[in-house]
Amino acid sequence: MRILSGIQPSGALHIGNYFGMMRPALELQERGDAYLFIADYHAMTTIQDAAKLRAATREVALDFLACGIDPEKTAFYRQSDIPEVTELMWLLSVVTPMGLLERCHSYKDKTAKGIIPSHGLFSYPVLMAADILAVQSDVVPVGRDQKQHVEVTRDIARKFNNQFGEVFKLPEPSIRDDVAVVPGVDGQKMSKSYGNTIPLFATSQKAAKKRVMGIKTDSKALEDAKDPDSCNVFALYKLFASEEEQREMARRYRAGGLGYGEVKKELFEKMQAFFEPFIARRNELAADPGRIDSVLEHGAQRARALARETLNHARAAVGLG
Ligand code: ADP
Ligand code: TRP
Repeated sequence: MRILSGIQPSGALHIGNYFGMMRPALELQERGDAYLFIADYHAMTTIQDAAKLRAATREVALDFLACGIDPEKTAFYRQSDIPEVTELMWLLSVVTPMGLLERCHSYKDKTAKGIIPSHGLFSYPVLMAADILAVQSDVVPVGRDQKQHVEVTRDIARKFNNQFGEVFKLPEPSIRDDVAVVPGVDGQKMSKSYGNTIPLFATSQKAAKKRVMGIKTDSKALEDAKDPDSCNVFALYKLFASEEEQREMARRYRAGGLGYGEVKKELFEKMQAFFEPFIARRNELAADPGRIDSVLEHGAQRARALARETLNHARAAVGLG
């Protein structure tokens, strides 16, 4: 089974991104023939500054490798190293009905947020279809917000196949429904647009600790019995603790005599222990830029061979060359 997913380079990662997106992506490599790419062509719809795009791409590559992408198992590459994808996008564009793109939520959502309403932003789902169809992926694991784009991909592939003969395999979306929404320090969904994040790779441990100690709680006194299930600190603690530790912590909440400051301290220690090896690996990798380049090149070679083959079929089917 071939599995493909893409990630946009979009700034410093937070622990919501780790549990909601990275960890599921890491699990892919155990499930089949995995392809994971950095969507730098897509990122151009929002980042239009060469130095920023280059830096953001490099940062996300470092983040993923530090968190455990194994380049022997997963073909990890930059989208822009597969230029076949953009040619394939054109072949798909001519069979993509305008109405199909007009129904996509993401264009409306993004322009409502102030992103420039460019043609690229509008045709973004066709580029995504090209990513997926170029490697003939069977499964595409995505967050709920991207499900519509995988459905659009199936529609485009079906239209192309009807018109020109069977070239593309129809991919299945796999939605990460079991992934909990990680709350931020204010109790809303953790998101960089709400300024409530706990960063994965904080610039200093002191700054990270300050974020954790600032998590919002109710104002119960130390001796009061507390409700773990409505507490943000407990929700975050659960991400890092074993089931037994969670049960024990819940018991201490309900018994009273446990202050939120103490729970935050224990949460911070757990978080630190969890991310320490990632931070060490990230520092090592950052000191060896040649290593990242060679991983991405190796991944691109694997993906590009598939994309070339697909594009040749598609070109022949439409009567090019
Ligand atoms: P942000 O909301 O910080 O801008 P993005 O929208 O860039 O984050 O999200 C990137 C990925 O991380 C998506 O797949 C999304 O589902 C996941 N993600 C973001 N925030 C959370 C969260 N608080 N809990 C779980 N997953 C999240
Ligand atoms: N559009 C996706 C996002 O913003 C990233 C992406 C681009 C992608 N191409 C893809 C995801 C192909 C899965 C498959 O998160």
